[in-house]
Amino acid sequence: MQKIKKYKKTAVSFANIAFIKFWGKKDRKLNIPYNNSISMNLSNCKTTTTVEFNPRFREDSVFLDGERLEGEKKLRVLKVIDLVREKAAMSWRVKVFSKNNFPKDAGIASSASGFSALALSASSASGLSLSQKELSILARRGSGSACRSIPGGFVEWIRGRDDSSSFAVQIAKANFWDLRDIVAVIETGKKEKSSTEGHLLAESSPFFKIRQKLLPNRLEEIKEAFLKKNFKKFGEILEEEAVEFNVIAMTSKPPIFYWKKETFEIIEKVRKLREKGILSYFTTDAGPNVHVFCLAKDAFKINKILKRVPGVLFTIINKPAQGAYLISKHLF
Ligand code: DP6
Repeated sequence: MQKIKKYKKTAVSFANIAFIKFWGKKDRKLNIPYNNSISMNLSNCKTTTTVEFNPRFREDSVFLDGERLEGEKKLRVLKVIDLVREKAAMSWRVKVFSKNNFPKDAGIASSASGFSALALSASSASGLSLSQKELSILARRGSGSACRSIPGGFVEWIRGRDDSSSFAVQIAKANFWDLRDIVAVIETGKKEKSSTEGHLLAESSPFFKIRQKLLPNRLEEIKEAFLKKNFKKFGEILEEEAVEFNVIAMTSKPPIFYWKKETFEIIEKVRKLREKGILSYFTTDAGPNVHVFCLAKDAFKINKILKRVPGVLFTIINKPAQGAYLISKHLF
C-alpha cells in the first residue's frame, strides 16, 4: 500500500520587541507601514504551532492555548491560511493548534510569534517551500510585527512600497550582543486598545508627520550605536523612541493611554539605577508593561530590583532569540 504523505508541520517562533516602532499603516489591508522598524526576538516568549491540511476534515478549526477560536480571531488566522491555500493551489480544510509559553494577554505581542509560527507551519504543511523573504511577507499579512520574527536575532523591517517589497531582514545574529530584555509585567488583562486599533488612529496625531521626519535619522543612529555596541547611546535612543511612540498614542483622536502609574514607577526606578551606575533603559509596546534593557552581566541584579517594585506581578528575562524554525514533534 502506498503511504499517504502527511500535510502536517509544526513551527516554533518568538515574539519580538521593537527598538524603533511600527506605528501607523500606510496600507491597512496589506499591513504596509509608514516607516522601517527594528527589533529583537525574545527567547522566553515563544509560540509553537501545528498545522494540518487534510481532505477528510469537514471544516477549518483553530485552537489557541486549548481554546477553540471563533469569529474575528479565527478569521484573522484563516486569512493567512487562505493565502497559503491560494499559493499552493490546495482546497483542503485545515486544523491549527497553537500554544504560547507566556500568559495570554501578558501584554507581550503574541501576534508576532503567533503569525510567524503560523506562516512557517502552514506554508510547509501545504508542501510549499518559501524563502525567508516570502515567509516574512506572509507573516506580515497576519500581523505587521510578525514579519520581524521570521529572521533570527536583530532585525529590520524594510517598509517597502507594496506587498512584495515589505519584509524583514536580519541586521545581526542573536549572539552578536549579549543583551537582556527584562519584561516587568504589571498587567495581564486585555489591552485598553489593541495595536491594530492604535495603528488606525496614529495618523490623527498632529505629531505623526513630525515623527516621520525624525525617524530616518533615528533609525540610522540606533543602528550605528547597536553595531558599535555603544549601550549608553543605544539606550538613550531606545527611550526617546518609546516616549515619542506614546506621545503619538496620547495625542491621537481619541487618545490612547497605554502607560499606567506602575509604568512610571518602573521608569523612575530604571533612571535611579542609572544614577547609581547600573545601566538599564526602558521601552514599551502597546501596553503598560515595561521592557527593561540591560547587559547580561547586570540582569540578575536588575531583575531582583524590578521584582520588588510595587505593582510588578512577575518578570520575564529574555535573551536575543533565533528566528522561526520547524520541529518534528507535533501538538496533536
Ligand atoms: C507598538 O504588529 O501588533 O508593538 O499588524 O495590527 O497586528 P497588527 O499590529 P502589530 O503592531 C505592533 C505595534 C508595536 C510596535 C512594534 O512592534 O513595532
